[in-house]
Amino acid sequence: MKFPTGQAKHRQGTVGLEGQERNGMSDKKAKLTVGDREIELKVFSGSVGPEVIDVRALYRDTGMFTYDPGFTSTASCESKITYIDGEAGILLYRGYPIEQLAEKSDFMEVCYLLIYGDLPNKTEKKKFVREITYHTMVHEQLNHFFNGFRRDAHPMAIMVGVVGALAAFYHDSTDITDPRQRMIASYRLIAKMPTLAAMAYKYSTGQPFIYPRNDLSYAANFLYMTFGVPCETYEVSPTLERAMDLIFTLHADHEQNASTSTVRLAGSSGANPFACIAAGIASLWGPAHGGANEACLKMLGEIGTVDRIPEFIKRAKDKDDPFRLMGFGHRVYKNFDPRANVMRETSKKVLAELGIEDPLFEVARELERIALEDEYFIEKRLYPNVDFYSGIILKAMGFPTEMFTVLFALARTVGWVSQWNEMISDPVQKIGRPRQLYTGEPQRDFVALDKRG
Ligand code: SDX
Repeated sequence: MKFPTGQAKHRQGTVGLEGQERNGMSDKKAKLTVGDREIELKVFSGSVGPEVIDVRALYRDTGMFTYDPGFTSTASCESKITYIDGEAGILLYRGYPIEQLAEKSDFMEVCYLLIYGDLPNKTEKKKFVREITYHTMVHEQLNHFFNGFRRDAHPMAIMVGVVGALAAFYHDSTDITDPRQRMIASYRLIAKMPTLAAMAYKYSTGQPFIYPRNDLSYAANFLYMTFGVPCETYEVSPTLERAMDLIFTLHADHEQNASTSTVRLAGSSGANPFACIAAGIASLWGPAHGGANEACLKMLGEIGTVDRIPEFIKRAKDKDDPFRLMGFGHRVYKNFDPRANVMRETSKKVLAELGIEDPLFEVARELERIALEDEYFIEKRLYPNVDFYSGIILKAMGFPTEMFTVLFALARTVGWVSQWNEMISDPVQKIGRPRQLYTGEPQRDFVALDKRG
């Protein structure tokens, strides 16, 4: 099967260290005065968004590092994939607003868009969907991996293990210097994540694994493998299929978030794609990141009723209480997360169409209303993020809470592989190796045991 190399169709210039950029260089300079020295630093501008100060020569020229724990002011790379304007609540996948993609496109088109840089035409889409569809099965030996886990293992623990183990099966797509092998691995990962995720769920229930079907859409196939059983026909609800596809689109990519940065850093050492994505899954699992959807639903359950909301708002504001409102706040969005708005409307629609009255939805709506009027949240610019409403929908669709982050990882795989391919294709990329501000002991001599106090 012929695989394209995955290069975006119109790759513009990249910024080289000595300024061999074909674009991206503004005529501005930044001046830095250190002691009696003044140095000039190049400034690069993107197509939209903040300019960057090129500090790559800073250590060479001054013997000093920049200091930015959590990378709050650091651009780790140049990218053409996703753009976020946190002030305006804008999210673009290859320039297309998330709201338009959510309404008019579908997840397979979004996958193609993120990988190749443009929406596919009819022929390209048909070919892409077929290639993904015909890679959804996993090697039969992989089934045995699941038997090594406890039935009550967290499905994210299973996904980290099994996705990393794909490197033990697909030796023909681990040479990261070969664009064709990179594309094969990318397609395999996008195609097999739903199968592995459904297997992780089935394993926890004791039900048999369900093989994928080539006559179903990507989202329908996942629902079929998750909720179908061999003893009867499982008809996928069009409402759930559409909601699932939309949720995948909303989670597909998000610039240089923690898990994507993990994938890029792992990939910068030349690690194989399966290991890199397993690293991304591990990072996404954290409750401050993708694990927030599971934590948020548990929090809503703990709040239980609207009258208990003030107690939890109080805890969230208490500096001495580690409790935070899960599903609230974001490093970049300081106004609103456009995905949360789409998710809120979708949850309302799904609950109505399924005829479900979920009291947690009312708790969520009231919590959002109260928080958005509270001085603390206004001053710290904390708004609902993508994880705030997703749990409500996923619960209504029948997923256990532990599966929520697995679904996030399933959807984010296309973003991870797109960013990973972009990094490897970037002529200026090199192994990621940050430095530090050392505040430990200066050099001292060893003290023999019998001389120690
Ligand atoms: C995702 O990066 C991405 O793009 C991620 C993501 C993606 O698609 O990849 O969008 C997905 O991870 C969404 C975020 C999901 N996480 C949560 O919902 C967990 C709850 N949120 C927080 O943990 C927090 O808001 C973060 C981690 C999301 C963002 O943390 P930051 O940017 O480091 O902000 P911060 O921790 O410095 O908080 C700023 C202030 C602090 O108070 P001060 O120290 O200034 O007094 O706001 C407070 C925080 O204590 N704060 C909160 C809060 N979030 C921040 N207080 C109460 N509840 C919260 N949720």
